[in-house]
Amino acid sequence: MYKILTLNNISVTGLDRLPRDNYEIASEITHPDAILLRSYKMHDMEIPASLKAVGRAGAGVNNIPVDRMSELGIPVFNAPGANANAVKELVLTGMLLASRNICPAWDFARNLEGDDAAISKAVEAGKKNFVGTELPGRTLGVIGLGAIGVLVCNAAKALGMNVIGYDPDISVQRAWQLSSDVQSASSVDDLLSRVDYVSFHVPLIDATKHMINADRLKNMKDGVVILNFARNGIVDDEAVVKAIDAGKVGGYVCDFPSNLLKNHDKVVTLPHMGASTREAEENCAIMVADQVREFLENGNVHNS
Ligand code: MLT
Repeated sequence: MYKILTLNNISVTGLDRLPRDNYEIASEITHPDAILLRSYKMHDMEIPASLKAVGRAGAGVNNIPVDRMSELGIPVFNAPGANANAVKELVLTGMLLASRNICPAWDFARNLEGDDAAISKAVEAGKKNFVGTELPGRTLGVIGLGAIGVLVCNAAKALGMNVIGYDPDISVQRAWQLSSDVQSASSVDDLLSRVDYVSFHVPLIDATKHMINADRLKNMKDGVVILNFARNGIVDDEAVVKAIDAGKVGGYVCDFPSNLLKNHDKVVTLPHMGASTREAEENCAIMVADQVREFLENGNVHNS
């Protein structure tokens, strides 16, 4: 009998890949053979001596002490691409929310008072404050051309946008194969100077920390909209808020709320829900459950 410790809610569809006659699965269990988790931070956790594998139902693994796991010979499985469509859809939503001032407009509409005639009058007077911009012909920069970045590029092209992609690890030719008609940039700075919107799809590592900072903001177009659905820390939030207040940045959509961001009129914050769709949760759980099972039962490491 294999024992599986779940440190977050994992989709039942995925857990069903582990037959219960051979697997005991619980959120509290002693001597686990494997851990399945989503965003639980394992860094301060005592690693059980029985542990043989870790499966993260998501793409990034920065909540897992991967180096320590390697030293212990414990493979870490993840699910790259399994939630890419969900993230892409929220990036598009974020662009549209910012471009059409949806959040302040919704706030305005739901706070209207009086009878319907009064509301109608207030609407006529107030709607001029929410005039937006359209996406065709505008330029989106995508930094990071993995599974999510490529889907974002293709979706933006379908909306009539110009798209510039940059990924230090992928050649321009490869990016072209993955996403048709994406222009290339010679560097992050080159990309940032040319775009009306920028979306990040890179992990948080030393090289990507505060990729958007006060210096870089100075060289970006006035009114640029910044989208961070990747990891908290890739964007220097304080610098962006200052740039918004100075009229330089037009909007910031960020999947990582904080006290600084949550009440700012030009910032939309969401509770890290890029990957939170039923389909993505199922896909991720199936992918890691299959990998963990293959490893526990046959010793094979098939990371996706
Ligand atoms: C990911 O790395 O794919 C996401 O953080 C997944 C999640 O939200 O759990």
